[in-house]
Amino acid sequence: MAELKLSESRDLTRIERIGAHSHIRGLGLDSSLEARDVSEGMVGQLPARKAAGVILQMIKEGKIAGRAVLIAGQPGTGKTAIAMGMAKSLGLETPFAMISGSEIFSLEMSKTEALMQAFRKAIGVRIKEEAEVIEGEVVEVQIDRPATSGAAAKTGKLTLKTTEMETVYDLGGKMIEALGKEKVQSGDVIAIDKVSGKITKLGRSFSRSRDYDAMGPHTKFVQCPDGELQKRKEVVHCVTLHEIDVINSRTQGFLALFTGDTGEIRAEVREQIDTKVAEWREEGKAEIVPGVLFIDEVHMLDVECFSFLNRALENEMAPILVVATNRGITRIRGTNYKSAHGIPMDLLDRLLIISTKPYTRDEIRKILDIRCQEEDVEMAEDAKQLLTRVGEGTSLRYAIHLITAAALASQKRKGKVVEVQDIDRVYRLFLDVQRSTQYLMEYQSQYINEVTIEADEDDANAMVPE
Ligand SMILES: Nc1ncnc2c1ncn2[C@@H]1O[C@H](COP(=O)(O)OP(=O)(O)O)[C@@H](O)[C@H]1O
Ligand SMILES: [Mg+2]
Repeated sequence: MAELKLSESRDLTRIERIGAHSHIRGLGLDSSLEARDVSEGMVGQLPARKAAGVILQMIKEGKIAGRAVLIAGQPGTGKTAIAMGMAKSLGLETPFAMISGSEIFSLEMSKTEALMQAFRKAIGVRIKEEAEVIEGEVVEVQIDRPATSGAAAKTGKLTLKTTEMETVYDLGGKMIEALGKEKVQSGDVIAIDKVSGKITKLGRSFSRSRDYDAMGPHTKFVQCPDGELQKRKEVVHCVTLHEIDVINSRTQGFLALFTGDTGEIRAEVREQIDTKVAEWREEGKAEIVPGVLFIDEVHMLDVECFSFLNRALENEMAPILVVATNRGITRIRGTNYKSAHGIPMDLLDRLLIISTKPYTRDEIRKILDIRCQEEDVEMAEDAKQLLTRVGEGTSLRYAIHLITAAALASQKRKGKVVEVQDIDRVYRLFLDVQRSTQYLMEYQSQYINEVTIEADEDDANAMVPE
């Protein structure tokens, strides 16, 4: 592994998931880090959001690498939502990795390997490289369309110029596709990486500024480059240590990054990479960017995982660890000891603790409003009031789940908006926890019941509202 491979990872795009937290776009803080009542999809929970914002600020200033934060609170009080909000406000350059405590046990690798991979997904490396680029203003893109075959067989010509020279380049199918994807047209100033073929649009040439009206207000105008078309340039790219690991582990290859099917990575590979990165840092070629590792449902980890975390946090490249749990005093998995949040003392001791509180009726109502918008569901006023009361009486998450179901019920009867009857219908159809528990108690004899109650004892320690 003399040459570390990097180029493949440049094109990785991060996929945004839609789901329970898709309405969260940030923490909703103002410039002095005070939480706005309703902002960026976030409602209420002001002190916790502010605390999360302060931590983000410290991360951005590079002050708290290797520290850990615990978000503790009852189920459905927005712990995961706040972590998502933190992720959204970090910016693309700071890596954010997220796992759930239980996930670690279901992967086809040891739990510590799974944790190690999660850690390395949360550590970024900014690498400065000299690259050969072709940089110029596009004079013309000319694509020949063969009558017979598909895009791969296309050929064409690209004419680029600087203030001093003009050259025509032959184009293959891959380049034509890349030009199309970037919507490159004459008058654009572009840079092409000679090794990877990656095209970057730098802006529109000033000579085209009279087209301003046609281009819209967001167009960036730049000078037509001078000198040679080909030049050496310093480029910066950001990858995570995990990406470097996977690309360089011979058995996997970079495609594993997309399938997530990375398997275990050999310790020697990591050692070599760490040595190389350390060298680059010394030469000023690379910088470490500690990101955030979020472990949800952290009480699902066992004592071995906790001791791994403790040690990993000591590493000078450690990311910020954010963990969340809804447990109170509970047993630490893998031991017979009880501890606050099911976390051993030595880790607890490192944690800054943020606590989340149950929502008021008004806040529940606002969150439901936002979710209706997010799911494109129109709901009558009285139906919203009813749903809010359902949320108060059961749980916020249950009420949120009913939105989609009620919308389907409304569609089925060809209603225009969701009415009280739809909420009523789905409320009867889907039990919330309380009713389900009651039902189970009534019909206990007809179910298979566990004899031991140890697990239940843990659950009874979840922080439930008094
Ligand atoms: N303050 C908030 N503002 C907006 N949406 C919220 C807020 N708190 C929770 N939610 C939403 O309510 C649902 C339940 O919250 P979640 O974060 O999953 O709770 P927890 O992780 O504490 O159990 C999620 O869909 C979440 O996005
Ligand atoms: Mg959660």
